[in-house]
Amino acid sequence: MSDFTQDFQNTLRDLMRWRRDVRHFRTDPVDEALLTQCLNTFHLAPSVGLSEPWRIIRLESGPARAAALANFKAENTRALSGYDGEKAALYSKLKLSGMQDAPVQLAIFCDEETQKGAGLGVATMPEMRRYSVVGAIAQFWLMARAHGLGVGWVSILDPMALTRDLEVPQHWSLVAYLCIGWPETTSDTPELELTGWETRRATLPIETR
Ligand SMILES: Cc1cc2nc3c(=O)[nH]c(=O)nc-3n(C[C@H](O)[C@H](O)[C@H](O)COP(=O)(O)O)c2cc1C
Repeated sequence: MSDFTQDFQNTLRDLMRWRRDVRHFRTDPVDEALLTQCLNTFHLAPSVGLSEPWRIIRLESGPARAAALANFKAENTRALSGYDGEKAALYSKLKLSGMQDAPVQLAIFCDEETQKGAGLGVATMPEMRRYSVVGAIAQFWLMARAHGLGVGWVSILDPMALTRDLEVPQHWSLVAYLCIGWPETTSDTPELELTGWETRRATLPIETR
């Protein structure tokens, strides 16, 4: 028997269905208490060995934001050059980050050398630390959406350059650059689907052995 009602289960599914990767933000600020409430979901997240390897840098200064934006623009131009024909034409029209407008921007790293958790679970697969960070981000994303906030994950970046520019330790690896703010619109359909880039699968591929 579940502690959660059928109504809650349906609402949770709706939350997942209406969570979006957001690139179009209004510029009005996000209340600090609300942001903290959403970020506190990191404390609830699973992590390998309870290592909690997430490290968060909030980009507030002009130079930090400018370095990240320049990094994105350079890598986005490089990515475009990898496509030809129709796909190139479509790619050039996509908006792939809200870094110009999002009021809150976070670079989320994984501490690859954390001693927390005493190495439990990472002896054969150290990448589990990074997966822990991804899991925590997914929870944050849903909580933000539950409050009406939009989150956009930017991965079109040179991680080494960002690590240098933000002066973070070399053993922190970049997992996500998140743009956070109030979305201009809401939708139950991914923007990449609306723009004709890709569609969601209708079925889940599961094989048996
Ligand atoms: C690991 C990861 C990296 C992503 N990187 C980018 C990115 O650099 N730019 C972008 O516009 N969207 C990025 N996205 C968002 C995906 O394009 C988006 O999740 C997908 O199209 C499905 O849309 P939805 O999140 O609205 O359901 C990323 C998503 C994930 C999970």
